[in-house]
Order: sequence, then C-alpha cells, then structure tokens
Amino acid sequence: MNGCDITKKLFDLGDVSDDELKSLIENDCFNEPLADAADIRRRENYGDEVYIRGLIEFTNYCRNNCYYCGIRRDNRCAERYRLTKEEILSCCDEGYRLGFRTFVMQGGEDPHYTDEIICDIVSEIRSRFPDCAITLSIGEKPRESYQAYFDAGANRYLLRHETADSVHYGKLHPDSMSLENRKRCLFDLKEIGYQVGSGFMVGSPYQRTENLVADLRFLQELQPDMIGIGPYITHAETPFAEFKSGELNTTLRLISILRLMFPYALIPSTTALGTIHPQGRELGLKAGANVVMPNLSPVSVRKLYALYENKICTGEEAAQCRGCLERRVLSAGYRIVTDIGNVKK
Ligand code: 5AD
Ligand code: FES
Repeated sequence: MNGCDITKKLFDLGDVSDDELKSLIENDCFNEPLADAADIRRRENYGDEVYIRGLIEFTNYCRNNCYYCGIRRDNRCAERYRLTKEEILSCCDEGYRLGFRTFVMQGGEDPHYTDEIICDIVSEIRSRFPDCAITLSIGEKPRESYQAYFDAGANRYLLRHETADSVHYGKLHPDSMSLENRKRCLFDLKEIGYQVGSGFMVGSPYQRTENLVADLRFLQELQPDMIGIGPYITHAETPFAEFKSGELNTTLRLISILRLMFPYALIPSTTALGTIHPQGRELGLKAGANVVMPNLSPVSVRKLYALYENKICTGEEAAQCRGCLERRVLSAGYRIVTDIGNVKK
C-alpha cells in the first residue's frame, strides 16, 4: 500500500497494522496526507475550537530521578522552589480573569505537599471556581491518595506513561520506578472516575519505532481522554546530556496518527513542540491537536521549572502568553474558546 492508501485506511478504520503504523511514523512523505486527514477528523469533532488550560507549575522539588528530566533529584544545579497555597490561588484568580476554565497543578513528586495539603488546596480551588476543571499532574501515588484528591474536587489527572515498553522504560528511569506501577496508577485513576491523560516523549534516548507503536497500542488499551506528546529535549544537567532532541516532523505525524486513532481525544500542542520550532504549536494544531496549555505560574519561578533546555514563555506574564497564543491559534486557522473543554464522546 502506498502512503495515501495507508492514511486513508487509518482515516476510515481508525486503525492499521503495526507495520503500517511503523511506515507512517518513519516517513516524511506522509506529513501532509496525515495532517490533512487529521484536520478533517478534528473539525468533525471539535470544529475550529481550541481549549486552553492554565498550567501552574507549583513545585520543582522531585524525589524521582528520571534520566531525561531537568528537575530530577540529582540535578544539584537546579534552584528549587515551592508555591504557597495563596500563590497558587492567585494564579487561578488571574487565570479565571483571562478566560481559563481548567487549572492544571503540575509539579515534581514533592513530599512537602502531603495528601492533606494537596486536598486543602484542591478543595479551596473547587469552592472558589465551581465552574472549572481541576487537573492534577503530580506523579505516581497510592490509590488512596488519588481517591482523596478526587473527593476533594480534582477531576482530571495527567500522567504520561513515557514509554509502553518495559525494557525501554528501564533505560529512561532508575530501578526504583517501573512501567508496571505507572500503569497501575493510570488504571486506578480511571477507575476512580478521573478524566485521564497519558502520553509519551518522541525521540527519547534509545527509542525505536517499535516502541512508539507499542505506545499507540497501550493507549488503545487505556482509552485516555487526553493524550500529551512532545519531542524529547536534551537537558545538559542530566545523564542524557549527549543525546539529541526528538524531531519536529515525527512528532507532528504522531499527533495526526493520534487524532485518527482517537478522534475524540483532547490533544495538546505542547510547549516542548513550541520550543523546538518557532511555529511548533501552530503546526501541532494543524496536525490535529486541539488544546494549548499556557503557563500561569509567576514569572519569578518560570525559568526554574526547566524539564528541558530553552523552554519558551519563561519571561512572559500570563496575560502576555494568553494574547500571544490567541494570535498564534488564529493564524493557524482555529480559535481559542473560554470553555471547560470536556472530552466530546
Ligand atoms: N524533554 C521533553 N519532555 C520532557 N518531559 C520531562 N523531561 C523532558 C525532556 N527532557 C516530559 C515528560 C513528563 C512531562 C511533564 O514532561 O514526558 O511526563
Ligand atoms: Fe507565551 Fe507566546 S505563548 S509568549
């Protein structure tokens, strides 16, 4: 089958064989046919609407030591910070004024924020902003903790699986972590009733196309509401300092493949994509993404949440990013809406 035929098959059936996926992932000649097909699917389901999520990076302390990540425990060069409850709430206030109806609290796995503290912050956001979604992205926790956050008012959770191949997982993470526990977390979150987001990095060290196919198969099993992917980007103060970053076009093709396999999914055009190319986020939207996640964290800490190098938007106030994104989204042919932005299933 040639490229257009495989794309058409994926468009019609929402699935193709592993070998066909492999050729779509690997070949630049599929860039346009995939993006065109994905854009048709996204418009069928979401029109030209783009949802915005206000990202609050509230701590860069982390007890984990993932080899790819700039805020890993052993990075002694990282200057650490934590936001107080009041600082987090004022990010939400500002975000609400700017039209955000989803707040994403993201942080390293920081033991300072006990379940009690997280629940206290979540319930305060819940009571002040009853019409908003509260998303947590704070890593692997026991099921009881996830349940407690849910009961306090959190309703979405982001936890990328990073790679669905356990051998590859072992090359990206220290022995204290396992794909098995990551999956346990994701299925616990689903069972509790969260809208769950997962995803992976494209071009991470040692990744092979087979691993990416396994990522897509795992997502078919999980059936997440949100799927976040972005290129791996090198950070000098990690064990992976010598590895090169992931590629723009491979990431874009994977976004399109995701849109065709998961027509209803909420797929962000990520900051990492905007970091490796000046128009990365616009291209991500044109390839099938329908969410953007600008930063609401105080500018004073922005630079410190450095998962990877050269991260964009570290000098801009929330309102500046909001305005900038408005223009970027319009230039790509879509429009930002003030909406809680639930999955349309
Ligand atoms: N490059 C790109 N993405 C990264 N992440 C962590 N480190 C990097 C990096 N160096 C991603 C991981 C994580 C998410 C919050 O950020 O996929 O789940
Ligand atoms: Fe932040 Fe453009 S989106 S400056």
